Amino acid sequence: MAATFDAFRYAHAHRKEVAWLSQNTNHLVPPEVVRGALDEAIAERRYEGYPPATGDPELLELVREDLGLPDAVPFLTSGGTEALYMTTRALLAPGDEVVASDPSYLIIHRFIELCGAKTVCADIYRPPFRLSAEEVAERISPRTKILLLIDPLNPLGSGYPREVVRAIAELAHDRHLTLINDVTYRDFSEGHALAAEFAPEETVTVWSVSKNCGLAGLRLGGFSASPELVRRIARYNTNDLGVNILAQVAARAALRTKRSWIGDVVRTTRENGRRVREVGRSVPGVTAPVEPSRANMTILDIGATGLSPEGVQEELLRRHGVFVRSGNYLSPAHGSQFVRVSFSNPPADIDRFARAFPEAMRALARPVAAR
Ligand SMILES: Cc1ncc(COP(=O)(O)O)c(C=O)c1O
Repeated sequence: MAATFDAFRYAHAHRKEVAWLSQNTNHLVPPEVVRGALDEAIAERRYEGYPPATGDPELLELVREDLGLPDAVPFLTSGGTEALYMTTRALLAPGDEVVASDPSYLIIHRFIELCGAKTVCADIYRPPFRLSAEEVAERISPRTKILLLIDPLNPLGSGYPREVVRAIAELAHDRHLTLINDVTYRDFSEGHALAAEFAPEETVTVWSVSKNCGLAGLRLGGFSASPELVRRIARYNTNDLGVNILAQVAARAALRTKRSWIGDVVRTTRENGRRVREVGRSVPGVTAPVEPSRANMTILDIGATGLSPEGVQEELLRRHGVFVRSGNYLSPAHGSQFVRVSFSNPPADIDRFARAFPEAMRALARPVAAR
């Protein structure tokens, strides 16, 4: 197979035929939730003007209510990604350390390295597929400035029980460290606990409307923290004129109504996830080790098949129009042994996966000449 295959370019070019199970995006929110608000904003040509620089006041209030952190100040950014960039930039200096995990959402690790700091990672690729407070504590040194708690965790889909969140938050408090609590997938996790509840002064809660509200393409997220932390981080804000006005309009409409539709989205997501794991396990040599998923994605471990995740990704995409993600960009230690499958999708997309995955794995297992 060509080493230069650009899966994203191919998938975008064929997007109308592709079942997009690769980026944990959400394709289950009823479109009418945001359509009316966006139509109206476009008819008014609101895009011709700037938004209020610090964000739509009602949206900021909705974010505050949605998180349930009345004392944390919400700050809007272009996706949670920008919030993560600003936070690391503002709080880290060369030589500093951040305690994190492998696997992880590695773009955050890249931002850390850009500051001249480094991650000190615990390998969590075994049950229960998450950090323990003890593992975090063992990695804290005099150079540590930040603890990174992604809950639920992309790519594994594992999540943190309340008592573990509390223990890690208390560590941050006791050792005077900042805790980045990335809660992008929070709505998919039953009984989710926010670290800010236990360490309000030390926690930067990074949130997003990309996954819960199905608005990834609009690029809106943010962080919430104590006024003092917000002030320090906001010095690195580049969106001095505010973030995308249409994104704010859509996010406001989605958050206003979220309670009425999120239950159905999560129920369908869970059932889809159960099916994805079942299909994965039906293939010899494949395991679905994270049970259950507390997010809208999981991993299928293909290590025992001897196949490469990039090969599986390419075969599924090119021959079946099913886009899953190879693990390499999510784990230096284990990325060559898994693919990540996301499933906030119409069940018909999961049907396609169910047909395609066993067939693709059979085809790849055969010698090339026999295909
Ligand atoms: C853990 C985590 N944090 C943050 C993000 C960034 O999301 P966005 O920039 O779309 O808000 C993602 C996206 O996949 C993610 O998985």
